[in-house]
Amino acid sequence: MELPRRNPFAPGYGKQPPVLVGREDIFEDFEDALESPQHPSTALLLLGPRGIGKTVALDRLRDIARTQGWKTVRTSAVQGDWLQALTEAVIADHAEFVGADAKRTITGVSAFGVGVTAEVNDSDEQPTIRFRDALRAYATTLAEHQTGVALIIDEIQTANVDTLRALGDDHQIIAESEQLPVVIAVASLPSLAAELEADNIKATFLQRMDRRTLGRLNTEDTLRAVTEPFAKHGVTFSHDAKNQIVVETRGAPYFAQLLGFQLWKHLRKSPSANVSETAVASAAEKAYAIFGRTVADTLLNDMTPVERTFLMAMAVDAGDVSKIDDIAERMGRDLNYAYQYRHKLIAADVIFANGTKRVSFTDTAIRDHLRTTPQFEEFQRKLTSDITGE
Ligand SMILES: Nc1ncnc2c1ncn2[C@@H]1O[C@H](COP(=O)(O)OP(=O)(O)O)[C@@H](O)[C@H]1O
Ligand SMILES: [Mg+2]
Repeated sequence: MELPRRNPFAPGYGKQPPVLVGREDIFEDFEDALESPQHPSTALLLLGPRGIGKTVALDRLRDIARTQGWKTVRTSAVQGDWLQALTEAVIADHAEFVGADAKRTITGVSAFGVGVTAEVNDSDEQPTIRFRDALRAYATTLAEHQTGVALIIDEIQTANVDTLRALGDDHQIIAESEQLPVVIAVASLPSLAAELEADNIKATFLQRMDRRTLGRLNTEDTLRAVTEPFAKHGVTFSHDAKNQIVVETRGAPYFAQLLGFQLWKHLRKSPSANVSETAVASAAEKAYAIFGRTVADTLLNDMTPVERTFLMAMAVDAGDVSKIDDIAERMGRDLNYAYQYRHKLIAADVIFANGTKRVSFTDTAIRDHLRTTPQFEEFQRKLTSDITGE
């Protein structure tokens, strides 16, 4: 049973996995929302730490919209002038939709009641006003053809709040008041949610959105993500091998891809129709090494010693949430000191406020990696000796 040379697994941010598992409820709601303008999921906000699968979920939402005959426009707020880019994309797609002939008409003056042209860049005009006009024009045309447009925006936590608010106003006017067919799906790190809670006036738009938090994969989904690409080639897994996959992956989608990738390489070298626990363990070890090298170490090296200590104090907790009081105690410092570093690490998006006086890792795999380092062992040894008074 030989596996093809081409490795189907996709470890990497924004890379489409061979089998996208879980998240079905979100996809179903979005599909329903395309049919019914009153559906809450016509404005979706996906929240979750880095590596949990927001970008690939947005990809799927875009595919769903396209399958339903909707047009889609996508951007990432990491781009400084993303609203401008979105506006231009809306205008260009509109022009393309109405066809080359009409485009010539558009280019002169206003076929749509406004000066919408893909070529003319009237930078004097307020970008947000341009966006609203462009979106209204496109949505109006699409409505005449019994379809609509889905706006998809990634990394919204980097967006300027005023721009976000403007987008929200535009969406409300066009989709809600004017009942034009526009749905919107955005993704953000959880830091945004914390910010919203801290400041109510900031962006009511985001607060009104249908918020979905992406979490770790359950056991069944984890197994599907790793084993299905092998199953296509007749490769099965022993009971223990499956358990090992669940134990090593801990529901982290990024790690599932890394593990699958290594396992594929392993099985090409040593083919087997029934994968053993040992094969999984050895692939997991390589996957961890790569994860540590590529993702975690880069991040940890950028930090100050105290920041790292804070993170190690967090990593002591077996679960995903740490109490700030515990962290301060483990650091041997007072609450104020801990809060200061909490603040810095939140600003760096390494952790986020997860409820009152609680924090979590933005990327749980960072925590998992940290727990395997010698520095962490040392930290824990000291903690235990402090407690036992040795
Ligand atoms: N639902 C999923 N099923 C299988 N693999 C996934 C899933 N979600 C994410 N992945 C994988 O995890 C990695 C990170 O996904 P990505 O969408 O970039 O995360 P985020 O945008 O939240 O940082 C990618 O390698 C991707 O293929
Ligand atoms: Mg992403």
